[in-house]
Amino acid sequence: MTSPTSPIALVQEVHGRLRQASDKDYYLPADRDEHSRLDMQHQTLKLTMNSLYAQRELVKSTLARKDRRTTLLDVGTGSGVWAIEMAEEFPNTDVTGIDIVPPDVLSRPSTIIPSNCVLKVADGTTEIKKYHEAFDIIHFRAAHLGMPNMARILLEDSADALIPGGLLLLVHCVPIILKDDLSAYPVTDEGKPEYVFC
Ligand SMILES: C[S@@+](CC[C@H](N)C(=O)[O-])C[C@H]1O[C@@H](n2cnc3c(N)ncnc32)[C@H](O)[C@@H]1O
Repeated sequence: MTSPTSPIALVQEVHGRLRQASDKDYYLPADRDEHSRLDMQHQTLKLTMNSLYAQRELVKSTLARKDRRTTLLDVGTGSGVWAIEMAEEFPNTDVTGIDIVPPDVLSRPSTIIPSNCVLKVADGTTEIKKYHEAFDIIHFRAAHLGMPNMARILLEDSADALIPGGLLLLVHCVPIILKDDLSAYPVTDEGKPEYVFC
C-alpha cells in the first residue's frame, strides 16, 4: 500500500461499521467484513466465468506481449484480490489497483502482494485523468456506485489513459437467484409468494 494519507482519516464509523469518509455517493461499508464479502463475490464471478476475466484471448494477447512489459489499472479495487490475482497470472504486467479506501489485504498475514502489483489510495473520479496513453487495460468491476460521472470517466478519462488499441473491461453484476432447475426466480414484490431478498 502506498499512500501519503493516514488510513484512519479515510474511514469513519457509522452504526458499528466502517464507511469511507471521502465520497458521499458511495454507501457500502469499507471494512474487513465488506472485503470478505467482496472476496466471496470475486470467487463466485471467477467460477461463473471460469476465469478472472471475459474475452480471454483478447485479454491474453493484450497483456502477454513479448516486446515490452504491459500495464493494467483496476479502478475501485476493493480488497485488491482481482488485481493481485491478475498480477500473478501475468508476471510481465505492472498492475495498479486504486480505491478511495485502503485494501484490507495488509491486515491478512497470508496475503502476498506480488512485486508487479501496487495497491494505492486514489479517487477514480480524479486519478485516471492524470494518465495519458499509460495502460493496456483499464478494468472496472462493480465500481460504478461511487462514480456518478461514469460516462465522462469511461469515455474521456479512461479513453485518454488507455494506450491506443488498449482494452476497457467493464463488469457489472446483476444478482439473480436460480432454482434447482437453473430457471430464475421471478421478480416479485416483498410479501408476495416467491419473493426473494437479494
Ligand atoms: C462493490 S466494490 C467492488 C470492488 C472490486 N472491484 C471487486 O470487484 O471486488 C466498489 C469499490 O469501489 C470503491 N470506490 C467507490 N468510489 C470510488 C472512487 N470514486 N474511486 C475509487 N474507488 C471507489 C469502493 O471503495 C469499493 O471498494
